Amino acid sequence: MICYLIIMRNKIISEILEDIVNRLGEESRFLEGSTLIISGGAGFLGSYFLGVIHLLNEKFLAKPCHVISIDNYITGTKESFVGDVYGEHIKRVEADIRTPFSVPEPVVDYIIHAAGLASPVYYNKYPLETIESTIHGAKNLLELARQKKPKSFLLFSSSEIYGDPHPASIPTPEHYKGNVSCTGPRACYDESKRLAETLCLTYHQLYDIPLKIVRPFNVYGPGMKPSDHRVVPDFITRAIAGAPLRVHGSGNQTRTFCFISDAVVGFFKVLLSQKNGEVYNVGTDREEINMAKLAHLVAEYFDNQIEINLVDYSEAYPADEPRRRCPDITKISRELDFHPTWDLRSGLKKTVEWYRDILPFDWAPDL
Ligand SMILES: NC(=O)c1ccc[n+]([C@@H]2O[C@H](COP(=O)([O-])OP(=O)(O)OC[C@H]3O[C@@H](n4cnc5c(N)ncnc54)[C@H](O)[C@@H]3O)[C@@H](O)[C@H]2O)c1
Repeated sequence: MICYLIIMRNKIISEILEDIVNRLGEESRFLEGSTLIISGGAGFLGSYFLGVIHLLNEKFLAKPCHVISIDNYITGTKESFVGDVYGEHIKRVEADIRTPFSVPEPVVDYIIHAAGLASPVYYNKYPLETIESTIHGAKNLLELARQKKPKSFLLFSSSEIYGDPHPASIPTPEHYKGNVSCTGPRACYDESKRLAETLCLTYHQLYDIPLKIVRPFNVYGPGMKPSDHRVVPDFITRAIAGAPLRVHGSGNQTRTFCFISDAVVGFFKVLLSQKNGEVYNVGTDREEINMAKLAHLVAEYFDNQIEINLVDYSEAYPADEPRRRCPDITKISRELDFHPTWDLRSGLKKTVEWYRDILPFDWAPDL
């Protein structure tokens, strides 16, 4: 097991957390004196929730926000890249959200279901855990919500619920119904996210759960585990090791990449909004780029000295990728004043710097 140098929060993570807190401004006052439960709190996005709330508690909120973070560490790590945030106000519980969960706190104000197997390599490896963590996890937290009557319940769905959208529906708006296989190599992830949305909306209709759903589109940035295997950490960590970058298939498949601080601002805006039963794309609609070009962009940070190869999909990486993915973010921009500010080059630069800081000099990719 390789030990990364991430136990201490580094300067780049501190700057990102400050940026998020500044951009949230007065909106974050809703968290004052509240209690929040999050599943998947040791993951990439969950850790930012903890880091932001830790900073808000230190600098902004008159009464702290209390957090209970649940994780079974199937892919998350106990050492957090946002630093040692755990203590009086932020507690971690090692638990599997697939089993019913209860807390002694009489009042819970916010519940977030972010646990899941988000990276294709991991959901390919753990398909049943992927389905159960998404569905049983949602059901257990919804039952908790029925008891505790929170102000807001946020489900992390995914842009993958759209599958491979018809070109006429790109950028893809929330009302696009999807073009998804229920038997394909990615079905355990895509279809469980789709059913989780249905399950949560049903609880909203039957029991008045104050539900919100976010569909993130390729969020990236400092904090993604070097062994995460999603495309940005994969390219950058391989480049740092001097290994060739592997582009799956033709390399023509496109994505838009949303830098972490933009995305986290969007997630908090949705969580804290007063509108219930709503679904929002969270991402950026700018700079749709194909994977071959992304590899070349990453190579630029390494003086173009990195080899780039087109490779077949391996057994570890599920095929049947969507050809294009780009969100229509009109809804969240208009309703919640969400506007991404980071361009791809600036975000990649920060991400490369972070991996250079935390990876040991003898780092070697594990696949
Ligand atoms: N990051 C993105 O670009 C992106 C895009 C679309 C959707 N999402 C969704 O957002 C959520 C968070 O994504 P992320 O990037 O932080 O993923 P991540 O893999 O970094 O974190 C997920 C966390 O959930 C934990 N977990 C998994 N199963 C669990 C279980 N049964 N009980 C308790 N903990 C469990 C893992 O250990 C991990 O710490 C996921 O639901 C993911 O599907 C993320």
